Amino acid sequence: MSQDYILETRNLIKEFKGFTAVDDVNLKVKRGTIHALIGPNGAGKTTVFNLLTKFLNPTRGQLLYNGKDITRADSATIARMGMVRSFQISAVFPHLTVLENVRVALQQKRNDSFFFWRSEKKLDEMNDRAIELLDSVGLKEFASARAVDLPYGRKRSLEIATTLALDPELLLLDEPTQGMGHEDVSVVSDLIKEVGKNRTILMVEHNLNVVADLSDTITVLQRGAILTEGDYATVSADPRVREAYMGVEADQPANDEEPQDTTPTAPAAAEASL
Ligand SMILES: Nc1ncnc2c1ncn2[C@@H]1O[C@H](COP(=O)(O)OP(=O)(O)O)[C@@H](O)[C@H]1O
Ligand SMILES: [Mg+2]
Repeated sequence: MSQDYILETRNLIKEFKGFTAVDDVNLKVKRGTIHALIGPNGAGKTTVFNLLTKFLNPTRGQLLYNGKDITRADSATIARMGMVRSFQISAVFPHLTVLENVRVALQQKRNDSFFFWRSEKKLDEMNDRAIELLDSVGLKEFASARAVDLPYGRKRSLEIATTLALDPELLLLDEPTQGMGHEDVSVVSDLIKEVGKNRTILMVEHNLNVVADLSDTITVLQRGAILTEGDYATVSADPRVREAYMGVEADQPANDEEPQDTTPTAPAAAEASL
């Protein structure tokens, strides 16, 4: 039964000094899908992410990856099992070139950094693979640029390339389009769609247009609990979802991410995107 699901949480609870930030969450991520976690500010999205990636330990509950209990596994172990959070393991080194960054990540994956430098052939293989990865995220022509000199959206593409170097089965993305202008949003959004073709993606994403465009399944969190889930049509038609967004004023980054969207208030923005 669990084989359909790459990742499951069972009655997941996280309390901070008596405050329940994650309240009995049963999340099921189906293999091969793009799954989005959304919800107003303070809903518990980041906390769920941190529990999944072992930045935090749950107060109660269970985590299962490919049917295996990973509740007590550490982040390095789950990364080796194929569950990788972008921007976590694969930090970008600003003063290395784009190509060097991907090579470092590939080296990390091979876990033989000490020996592989001795072999010309392996070095060539790694270069070929690095260039292939750069090509897959549209960065081939930036190969010799320093990471620090890349435009913002391209930096995000590089982070995704270094994450892909680890060959994840499940890719976790925490607000991949955060702080981006319109053009960068569509570059990264297209990239996620492409990358999602042969792996599972779970992402927290604020931009509801991106969520609508990419997600097979959307889970809506509110006050630490799952409010509802389904495809975009189902979720966006749910009056409780509109209400959840309307009940909160501060959490509509769709406004700064969508310059054409001039509606200033949270309710209006929610209406516009849902
Ligand atoms: N380390 C912490 N200590 C205490 N409270 C926290 C901590 N982290 C998050 N919270 C609280 O848990 C709730 C959920 O936060 P968070 O997961 O960041 O929500 P979201 O990412 O959906 O905006 C918020 O009320 C927040 O204040
Ligand atoms: Mg958050």
